[in-house]
Amino acid sequence: MLTMEDIIRDGHPTLRKTAEEVLLPPSEEDKQILTSLLEFVINSQDSEIAKKYGLRPGIGLAAPQINVSKRMIAVHVTGDKGELYSYALFNPKIISHSVEKSYLKSGEGCLSVDEAIPGYVPRYARVTVKGFNVDGEEVKIRLRGLPAICFQHEIDHLNGIMFYDHIDKKNPFKPIEDAIEITS
Ligand code: NI
Repeated sequence: MLTMEDIIRDGHPTLRKTAEEVLLPPSEEDKQILTSLLEFVINSQDSEIAKKYGLRPGIGLAAPQINVSKRMIAVHVTGDKGELYSYALFNPKIISHSVEKSYLKSGEGCLSVDEAIPGYVPRYARVTVKGFNVDGEEVKIRLRGLPAICFQHEIDHLNGIMFYDHIDKKNPFKPIEDAIEITS
């Protein structure tokens, strides 16, 4: 199983690379990597396991964060109606998005960033993501609220983008026009 020791931190060059597409159908090795990403996120939300292994709770993880520069992400997050979005995807892609923006009132965090970086991170309020599950089957997911933000954060990792890149450096809490404020 993955632990915090497997997660590379801000400053590591892999976090700034564009990750490679995964060849489909996936190899057993790639399947195992993808499965381990989701397992980590789920474990990190289990207070007993998290305490035992010193895991910081997270809602998503991308392969570059374990120093694998391939397009794979895992998300395990609950929407505002209590619905669970639990996905491990190869080659995820935003195929459409709203014009409307949203942002997390409390800002974003990242398992690869040890310190808190305050500020609003503008995201699309709604996105449709296409990807391929661990068996290589196509999946299409419509997202809004926190799950939409989480997927955008993880897909950014595949393009070498960190959440704080989106924060206005001069005025981190500058109001974002016509955006939905999300309180998670
Ligand atoms: Ni992150």
